[in-house]
Amino acid sequence: MKTLLIVYHTGGVKTAKMAEAVERGARTDAGVNVIVKRCADAGPEDVLAADGLILGTPENFGYMSGMMKDFLERVFYACEGKVNGRPWALFVGAGQDGSGAVSSVERIVLGLRLEKKSEPVICLKELTPEILGRCEELGAAFAAGLALGVF
Ligand SMILES: Cc1cc2nc3c(=O)[nH]c(=O)nc-3n(C[C@H](O)[C@H](O)[C@H](O)COP(=O)(O)O)c2cc1C
Repeated sequence: MKTLLIVYHTGGVKTAKMAEAVERGARTDAGVNVIVKRCADAGPEDVLAADGLILGTPENFGYMSGMMKDFLERVFYACEGKVNGRPWALFVGAGQDGSGAVSSVERIVLGLRLEKKSEPVICLKELTPEILGRCEELGAAFAAGLALGVF
């Protein structure tokens, strides 16, 4: 069975609600083992054991959250060269922009040579049912891709 790891940080509620929706979508595929961890609780062993990775972060000061950066700093060298080609995706809880969080995460993940499988889901302003639906779709499509072996 394939394993999907969802790692996220939230300083409030928005990115947590998005993570719940991504998880809900992913769990619709019984053929995938879904693991959800906060950045503070996740480490390189989790990433190495996963077949795919979905990251979620708020945008803070035009960048990913400090906790997501800490997570990536802790896993980067332990995983570099060992996860090439594995799929990944991103969701961002932002106030009015989100692009700084996206570009900062993408730049680092590029160095891990993971393969981006979809455009990031970005929530600006209010969290709407439409955004939560897109998060669910992200999780479901990602899990299906893993289960079917098309990723
Ligand atoms: C310290 C701080 C810095 C922030 N900087 C940005 C920013 O640069 N761009 C933006 O769009 N939103 C910014 N925001 C707004 C957050 O991204 C937004 O409130 C988001 O919903 C937080 O997600 P969370 O509830 O999961 O923590 C900032 C919020 C905080 C607390």
